[in-house]
Amino acid sequence: MTLRLGDTAPDFTQRSTAGDISFHQWLGDSWAILFSHPKDFTPVCTTELGEVSRLKPEFDKRNTKAIGLSVDGLEEHERWKGDIEETQGYGLNFPLLADDDRKVASLYDMIHPNANDTLTVRSVFIIDPNKKVRLILTYPASAGRNFQEILRVLDSLQLTDKEKVATPVNWKEGDKVIIAPSVSNEDAEKLFPQGWDEKKPYLRLVDLKK
Ligand code: BEZ
Repeated sequence: MTLRLGDTAPDFTQRSTAGDISFHQWLGDSWAILFSHPKDFTPVCTTELGEVSRLKPEFDKRNTKAIGLSVDGLEEHERWKGDIEETQGYGLNFPLLADDDRKVASLYDMIHPNANDTLTVRSVFIIDPNKKVRLILTYPASAGRNFQEILRVLDSLQLTDKEKVATPVNWKEGDKVIIAPSVSNEDAEKLFPQGWDEKKPYLRLVDLKK
């Protein structure tokens, strides 16, 4: 089954470096990023896991839990953890699923046979506290992901859940945002008394800091 935005993230139970995880229960009221790695003891993955560990305070600020997945077993994961800490300067501080039976990889369609029939691609899923899939990204094995971009999308999702706005190209926290097209000017006056910059009737930029 193909997962799409808005679908409920499939639940599962799987072993991890932090013990057995029942996914929905583990999520609780948090947001989550679930991301896959092609294989243990691979260079790009090693850098990514160090970086997500380094960024833990940023994910915590956003009420977001990180959970990785690699289709190797727990024993390999435990040995790899030492290498991650040694080479990246940050020890793994979130669970890494040991998906050697490919249970989770299958549920989330992380194996793309025409790319590689056994290894997972680099998938990223952002899942919200209602367990809905809010973002899906797929990167090739050879390209490490940009986790600043994942944080940026989390900021956008969390903001647009609260305010009737959308975020423009290259937006980052604190920049002007777009008043949602569904909001009439009459309603916008109540919602955004600070006023807005109307480039076009459909492109109204507002500074939420004012
Ligand atoms: C890596 O993580 O370094 C990697 C994994 C599979 C193919 C290429 C690179």
